[in-house]
Amino acid sequence: MTSLPHEPAVSGSSGSLADADVDLIVVPLFQDEPDSDESLEALDAGTAGALTRARARGELTGRAQELFFTDIVTESWSPARLLLIGAGPLSRLDRRLAEVLGGVAGMAARDRGLARVGVVARNELGTASLVQASLEGALLGAFRDFRFKTAPAPSSPLLHVRLLLDDRPWSAEHDAAVARAQALAAGANLARELSNEPANLLTPQAFGERAATLVTSSRTTVEILDEEAIAREEMGLLLGVSQGSVEPARVIVMRYTPPGKVQGPTLALVGKGVTFDTGGISIKPADSMDRMKRDMAGGAAVIGAMAALDRLQPSSAVLGIVPAAENMPGGRAIRPGDVLTAANGTSVEVLNTDAEGRLILADALTLAQRLGATHLIDIATLTGACVIALGHHASALVGHPDTWVEQVLHAAAAAGERVWPLPGDDSYNRQLDSETADVANIGGRPAGAITAGLFLKRFSGGLPWAHLDIAGTAWWEEAEAWHPKGASGIGVRTLATLCLLYTSPSPRDGLLSRMPSSA
Ligand code: BES
Ligand code: MN
Ligand code: ZN
Repeated sequence: MTSLPHEPAVSGSSGSLADADVDLIVVPLFQDEPDSDESLEALDAGTAGALTRARARGELTGRAQELFFTDIVTESWSPARLLLIGAGPLSRLDRRLAEVLGGVAGMAARDRGLARVGVVARNELGTASLVQASLEGALLGAFRDFRFKTAPAPSSPLLHVRLLLDDRPWSAEHDAAVARAQALAAGANLARELSNEPANLLTPQAFGERAATLVTSSRTTVEILDEEAIAREEMGLLLGVSQGSVEPARVIVMRYTPPGKVQGPTLALVGKGVTFDTGGISIKPADSMDRMKRDMAGGAAVIGAMAALDRLQPSSAVLGIVPAAENMPGGRAIRPGDVLTAANGTSVEVLNTDAEGRLILADALTLAQRLGATHLIDIATLTGACVIALGHHASALVGHPDTWVEQVLHAAAAAGERVWPLPGDDSYNRQLDSETADVANIGGRPAGAITAGLFLKRFSGGLPWAHLDIAGTAWWEEAEAWHPKGASGIGVRTLATLCLLYTSPSPRDGLLSRMPSSA
């Protein structure tokens, strides 16, 4: 069970579709494109006129969501099957749509047990950044998790994704796009596997062992802090959360060192690793409590991002920190009203034991500073309030200063993950006042996602800090044509892209944003 998710081979080329060495060709069809197009005419010939007939019947219009499967009947063609996907108007083509189209291709191939799929990049889909998006979509769409089924998998895995350029030459930028897509999708699929794993198997200890096996390399070290080491760091909030469980806490510390001379910023990625959240003494209702096996999705995203970065080799140092604990009720558990002392000395009144994520993250942010972080970003399934505010379509962002928030938003947009900023000014701070201690761990119902963020801000030591709440985006309750049900792997691509984009010191705020030329 410790293996990486199955990873298909990825390649790309330009040339004739008839010669493509694949089982299934997937072609997006736009609504407003001219009927005469070389590759469409070739496909029409290859299918003995199936496209022309489907068009005449009104089955092939390019409308979004439209799917048309047919056989390729001409002997001289190498691929045997063709899928046309309606892509809507060409003017609406963006990174998101490219990823969805790739996702439909990956999923269709996977569900039919077709081992090799060719994704045809027509029009602007052939630019390097959209090639990257399509490939990520295909690799993410082909992900299936049958680990805990005893029956044999209903279909064999996807072995090869080929990106077929239709009207432009293959370039070095395309090669770089393939490498990025492969590493980022592998990182996200790894995070998905970790998040889907049940909490009886993925304990804090197992989580640490898994990170060590998956991430350790010549460039990235993994150190696991046990309870003694955690006590030496005086991480009283983490120990407080975990004391109700028989499973001991761990802190996973991953350190990536770039090749050559190390200089510039050290970004710290900090992910919530609650392997199961019952709520503790402030116990949650039974309904859907099983979902809380995924309360470590932020930690999984950090591990997936570190795995991807190890391959993509950004030029600055990156720290990955995952505080891992199980939040349980019991005779040793913390009670509402208890006061705990954080690693940075702050006293915290725990008014609700279900607001545990912010507690363990606060100590992890302090640890990140001790380990030399210059910039902080944390990621967590932190609040139900975030789901109420943004639903399941965007993650929330609270951060400081605005320049850092903008850089994170920019990275998320470049990575194709939707993030929406919430206000994080001091006017909300009074909600966290405690009668007894320095701060309370809850701020009441209004603006719950913001006050959770502002709680964390108090532990950011004045460094540039951003917080991503992925409570609404960490998993899908239902499958769609481009993604399976279950963990989404959200955050991996944003975190890794942030590290790839911001690497050199700049005079203004210590960071220079550099887009890779193809992104
Ligand atoms: N892990 C939960 C938040 C959560 C809820 C994530 C639903 C994903 C889906 C978190 O630890 C929690 O319980 N938060 C409380 C905070 C409250 C007590 C202030 C919440 O949102 O209800
Ligand atoms: Mn909770
Ligand atoms: Zn939680």
